[in-house]
Amino acid sequence: MAQLDFTNVLRRSMLGVAASIALLPSAFAQSPIIIKFSHVVALDTPKGKAADFFAKRAGELTKGRVKVEVYPNSQLYKDKEEMEALQLGSVQMLAPSLSKFAPLGVKEFEVFDLPFIFDDYNDLHKITGGPVGQALLKKLETRGITGLAYWDNGFKVMSANRPLKTVEDYKGLKMRIQSSKVLDAEMRALGALPQVLAFSETYQALQTGVVDGTENPPSNLFTQKMHEVQKHVSLTNHGYLGYAVVVNKKFWDGLPADIRAALNKAMVESTKVANDVAFQDNVDALAKVQATGKTTVYKPSLAERFLLKKALVPVHKQMASRIGDETMQAIYKETSFDPSKL
Ligand code: LMR
Repeated sequence: MAQLDFTNVLRRSMLGVAASIALLPSAFAQSPIIIKFSHVVALDTPKGKAADFFAKRAGELTKGRVKVEVYPNSQLYKDKEEMEALQLGSVQMLAPSLSKFAPLGVKEFEVFDLPFIFDDYNDLHKITGGPVGQALLKKLETRGITGLAYWDNGFKVMSANRPLKTVEDYKGLKMRIQSSKVLDAEMRALGALPQVLAFSETYQALQTGVVDGTENPPSNLFTQKMHEVQKHVSLTNHGYLGYAVVVNKKFWDGLPADIRAALNKAMVESTKVANDVAFQDNVDALAKVQATGKTTVYKPSLAERFLLKKALVPVHKQMASRIGDETMQAIYKETSFDPSKL
């Protein structure tokens, strides 16, 4: 009898231990898969907001099996370093601007930098939401990178410490650009002197006079406080800046299929967030720049914008052999852009 009682006690206490293990998720459960997501912009931007949203939804949809750690504002890596880090697997996810993929050897991405190629977001979405955009993302695979989505930012304005009304006003200005040969050609077509600088170095370079001016959508200009060191902004809307969200291919392919599916769902939702906020964020940012009273915001007349376009469209032809005529024609076809007609 005593023996029987002892067995019962033992069985009950073992059940108790099993129950308490089940109640201790973090101590005994598998640790989550970590995705480090590095980016270079502020939190309060289309990319910053969409990255944070993705982190939240990835956690929810995978029930905590994935933890996305977002590192904004070049906190972890600057532009060039983050690309290297992705390929090495030191970070798993990035959303670089489309202008930053050519240094990997995928020069076709510079098509997005061609001046005046997109009239508006509608034109752009015909590409980023269609087969041409998908084919471009596919090209990244040879570089060990999988492209998951395109996220919008917006159309660029020019800034400097002198008014930028006519094409002549750009002559001789040292202009910070992203690492794109198309942007280099664009600035040269205006008689400016392009200088590639990391995004994180731009404010200081403008402040110290290393460069005189730059181009960016208003949301980046404002959140980096560039307007504090730029007296003039011109609403040229001469080109587009947006992103490709990319992951390290080996990491991505190695994920369990159900996790990948959940992350894809989170990405679709995050893309909607990015694209829904991008337009308004840029409108708001511009209003905030104006409200500071530190910067004069100029809207070029139709005639001035036409002359700017005339000066910049020859860049298309100049860059055709670099980008690939096929890619350019595919975009022209979708958007009905005709460089021979101004
Ligand atoms: C820039 O370098 O100007 C932009 O690509 C920054 C960004 O990620 O929006």
